[in-house]
Amino acid sequence: MEKIPIICDGIYYVGVNDRDTHLFENIWPLPKGVSYNSYLIVDEKTALVDTVKVSKMRDYLEKITRTLDGKPLDYLIVNHMEPDHSGALSAIVHAYPGVKVVGNKKTMEFIREMYHLQAEFYEVDEGDEILLGKHRLKFFMTPMVHWPETMMTYETTEKILFAGDAFGGFGTLDGGIFDDEVDVAYFEHEIRRYYSNIVGKFGPMVQKALQKLAALEVRMVCPTHGPVWRTRPQHIISAYDRWSRYEYEEGVVIAYGSMYGNTEKMADFIARVLSEQGIRSVRVMNTSAVHESFIINEIWRFKGVMLGSCTYNNWIFPPMENLIINLAHKGLPNRVFGVFGSYGWSGGGVRGIVDYLKKNNWTLVGEPVEVRFSAKKEDLEKLRKLALEIAAAVKAT
Ligand code: FEO
Repeated sequence: MEKIPIICDGIYYVGVNDRDTHLFENIWPLPKGVSYNSYLIVDEKTALVDTVKVSKMRDYLEKITRTLDGKPLDYLIVNHMEPDHSGALSAIVHAYPGVKVVGNKKTMEFIREMYHLQAEFYEVDEGDEILLGKHRLKFFMTPMVHWPETMMTYETTEKILFAGDAFGGFGTLDGGIFDDEVDVAYFEHEIRRYYSNIVGKFGPMVQKALQKLAALEVRMVCPTHGPVWRTRPQHIISAYDRWSRYEYEEGVVIAYGSMYGNTEKMADFIARVLSEQGIRSVRVMNTSAVHESFIINEIWRFKGVMLGSCTYNNWIFPPMENLIINLAHKGLPNRVFGVFGSYGWSGGGVRGIVDYLKKNNWTLVGEPVEVRFSAKKEDLEKLRKLALEIAAAVKAT
């Protein structure tokens, strides 16, 4: 039987991997699954921090039972109520009838409404503490990161932050639990995809939460997804700070929608010009083939965005429109963008993109280029001019 990983003295990792779910929240692809992290503190009193999705309960309960080794479970800390973490809540309450369910006022409201659960509730608010013995838990309210009831739990002895969804991302933990045991580059990419698509809309609230936590000494970050940050907790905290400030790096995402390859050719032409201008990070992405969450992840990272669409029913090509609608939901400000595309007998794709993105508080660079069927020499000159202007805007400080 697999050994229960130890986070530090008296704190155990009892999370599970999910390789069965293909879409997180039934929207976001999970090419390498996802972990639901849960932590068990065994002291004079015991506390379980967050639970897991209901489908993974059998293994989860076994790990808890084995770790408790006959001790009762005294507290169940609910940092976040989304069902990937609260799904096993009812089962835990039934398995350990004496357990006190710890959360804030909103948590209690959500538990009653979501699970119609009769349990002993222990309501906490900002700065409240629970002493377990050697370990002491202190609670920080972090609303809208990314639900209204979200809070974080800080273990004051070992200085561990149980952060809920914050600092976590997609990808199962395949043996490694800690940042020094896994492919951190992969996880960072997937943490930003989680952030940009799920939490990113709430940047100002993330900033508030980070300011609140700034006074704490954090020795380890234990999120509810992805690796535990034990060697470089500040690394992921700083990344969250940058992302929630909407900071960007030099680079351009060229997202396109193309039925027969004409708009795609324009995308490749622009990419080459950008490269000639010394832009090293250029991402050409096909909206028909790549899920928008991956494109939004790159757009969150880079300053420049080029959007290209063929015309479909006098309007934007549907996969491209889907990307734009999703982008508008995120409220990402602060990007420079250019538009290009093609049409056969009536335009509309390019105009549609410009209309949408004006509302996003983005800066339109140059003149949009729309060509009939396929780009001719004079069209390519216009496209070159537009690409040069984007390159200059991206490099400008
Ligand atoms: Fe991991 Fe908001 O759930």
